[in-house]
Amino acid sequence: MKALVAYSSRTGNTRMIADAIAPVLPGDVETVSVECAPQTLDHDFVAIGFWVDKGVPDEQAQEFMKRLRGTVVGLFGTLGAWPDSDHARECMESAVRMMEENDNRVICRFMCQGKVDPKVVEAMARYAPERHPMTPERKARLEEAAKHPDETDTMNAAKVFSAAVKEHFALAGRP
Ligand SMILES: Cc1cc2nc3c(=O)[nH]c(=O)nc-3n(C[C@H](O)[C@H](O)[C@H](O)COP(=O)(O)O)c2cc1C
Repeated sequence: MKALVAYSSRTGNTRMIADAIAPVLPGDVETVSVECAPQTLDHDFVAIGFWVDKGVPDEQAQEFMKRLRGTVVGLFGTLGAWPDSDHARECMESAVRMMEENDNRVICRFMCQGKVDPKVVEAMARYAPERHPMTPERKARLEEAAKHPDETDTMNAAKVFSAAVKEHFALAGRP
């Protein structure tokens, strides 16, 4: 089996998840940032990682996602919001739709929080304080995000991907 883990990561959070997923995939596995993804995408399985940018997968991840056709894929993402929020769900759903529109099959998904660049939080406070007020809820969310991805996140991501790939390729008759 030939697998690719392609991630987009501005500050390293999504890369941490990519690095946890790659070792649990069977066969020949290559891990690359989406900008360095190979020209030919003939892999049996592609794990795609994005960071959430204004409610959708970041632009570089989207550019890579558009290149895939008829491929078995798994999606993973990191974001500042709570991973069980509607915001997180809607973002992952938009990524799934993008993949399915081009006949790709999504066999697993994983989302967790990732620390938000303090410079970005500061810029929001300076230029759009009315749009992003520092409420106690937002403060608590950012403080929690600052602790992620943690060991539990990386372990859970590895588990989700390992189980889905095993099940899918066993059913498809591939080792
Ligand atoms: C410009 C910008 C926009 C962001 N937009 C969102 C957003 O809409 N929702 C959210 O939950 N997190 C948002 N975040 C937080 C990131 O998705 C989060 O910190 C992510 O873990 C960064 O991943 P990385 O370290 O792999 O770049 C944003 C961060 C930046 C820098």
